Amino acid sequence: MPDQISIGLMGLGVVGVSVANAIDAKAEVIKARVGCPVVVSRALVRDIGAVRSNLRNSVELTTDPDIILNDPEIAIIVELMGGEQPTLDYINQAISNGKHVVTANKEVLAKHGPELFKAAADKGVMVRFEASVGGGIPIIGPLMNDLAANDFTAVNAVINGTTNYMLTRMASDSNLDYQMVLKEARDRGYAEADPSADVDGIDAAFKLGILASIAFHCTVRDTEVFREGIRRLSPADFAYASELGYTIKLLATARRTHGRIQARVHPAFLPEDHPLAKVDGVYNAVELEGDLVDSAMFQGPGAGAEPTTSAVLADIMAEAHSIANGERLPVHMSDNNGLVVEPIDDLETKYYLRLRVYDRPGVLAQITTVFGDLEVSLASFIQKEVGELGDVAEVVITTYVAKESAVQEAVRQLEALDSVSEVSNLVRIEEQSASLARGGQPKREGD
Ligand SMILES: NC(=O)c1ccc[n+]([C@@H]2O[C@H](COP(=O)([O-])OP(=O)(O)OC[C@H]3O[C@@H](n4cnc5c(N)ncnc54)[C@H](OP(=O)(O)O)[C@@H]3O)[C@@H](O)[C@H]2O)c1
Repeated sequence: MPDQISIGLMGLGVVGVSVANAIDAKAEVIKARVGCPVVVSRALVRDIGAVRSNLRNSVELTTDPDIILNDPEIAIIVELMGGEQPTLDYINQAISNGKHVVTANKEVLAKHGPELFKAAADKGVMVRFEASVGGGIPIIGPLMNDLAANDFTAVNAVINGTTNYMLTRMASDSNLDYQMVLKEARDRGYAEADPSADVDGIDAAFKLGILASIAFHCTVRDTEVFREGIRRLSPADFAYASELGYTIKLLATARRTHGRIQARVHPAFLPEDHPLAKVDGVYNAVELEGDLVDSAMFQGPGAGAEPTTSAVLADIMAEAHSIANGERLPVHMSDNNGLVVEPIDDLETKYYLRLRVYDRPGVLAQITTVFGDLEVSLASFIQKEVGELGDVAEVVITTYVAKESAVQEAVRQLEALDSVSEVSNLVRIEEQSASLARGGQPKREGD
């Protein structure tokens, strides 16, 4: 048993400071669980002089990564800097120097996970990353360990708090448009000055790639995840969604289907009784469907200093316990069964379309002919006069299950019609959920 286990912290921002403080504040509990003390010996920052008034750990700061990465006393590198570079280089250097790694960095894992895990396996070191998806929600651990006996068929998630806050606000107040809720999210500190990573679904695609890779034992790169953001959603979409019995969420979903993987992030109409429809505000949730567990739902705070610290610290304690007791935890995500991601064109689901059309005789017949010729069956058709638009009317269509390629072709043909002013939006309707199919009841009656 070592006298103590030393940590090198790379990054001392929102999460880094909280982790450093918690290691100090919980020193006795950590020592009891691990078997020896765990201390933060050094922390990497960009600016040593920056005021860190909430830092209560007297850790030594440095701007030189090599001082931490080459320190033989440091056993675990805790990477909390974020971003792809220079972070990736630092993690690789840590692994090749024989150090164990804990990281909260979804971008590095989504883009370079398989290579990092291979390097770690070759070197016999651990890489843990619970905080990279869902902040404080335990999801990597359950997928890898507690539910490891399952063949997973689906991962359905709301995994971006910023967009979930914005969509929840738009659903609750019909006077709010996209720009207004974005400003509100920025004022509350939920959205960055450049919100693209959140509103364009980039952050959610990183996280879904990580979850799908673990669930389906394959490599799902972030670039293979189909991605569409929330910028086109308008108050009208929320009004129609509610009229039709749906809630709009930025859905991240991965599904094993026909021997391939579907992986997509996009706004979706969810039935109001879908388990994810009730996840509001900055909360995140992940629903897993497995052959043994059936459906299991994990919900909680998807970000924030303390929830994220909860996940990072648990990873640190697990690694420290293994080191102290001479065990080796498995290196994650290192298997690959070769399943590939199917193109979005092959998706089959239901669709909602909102169009603006010139109020002329025959226009509705033209629209239905376009869908009919492409063998897309329409489930509902709503036409509304829009007072302020002169001779333009709004038409809302929902389809039965149809192929994405056919619906996209229909959009192209509709846009070419003289009688159609614009196709204002197309949103996929998602009704697949194991628990939803049974009205939220478990598969078997039990005790
Ligand atoms: N915040 C959350 O709620 C949350 C939730 C889940 C996961 N995460 C993940 O946790 C990680 C950290 O997030 P955060 O919110 O704590 O970020 P943050 O507040 O921006 O902190 C980043 C820290 O890294 C340091 N840093 C960045 N680039 C550096 C470089 N090139 N060299 C040296 N130091 C550098 C910064 O130094 P200075 O202090 O000198 O600027 C700062 O201390 C990210 O991967 C993020 O995705 C965060």
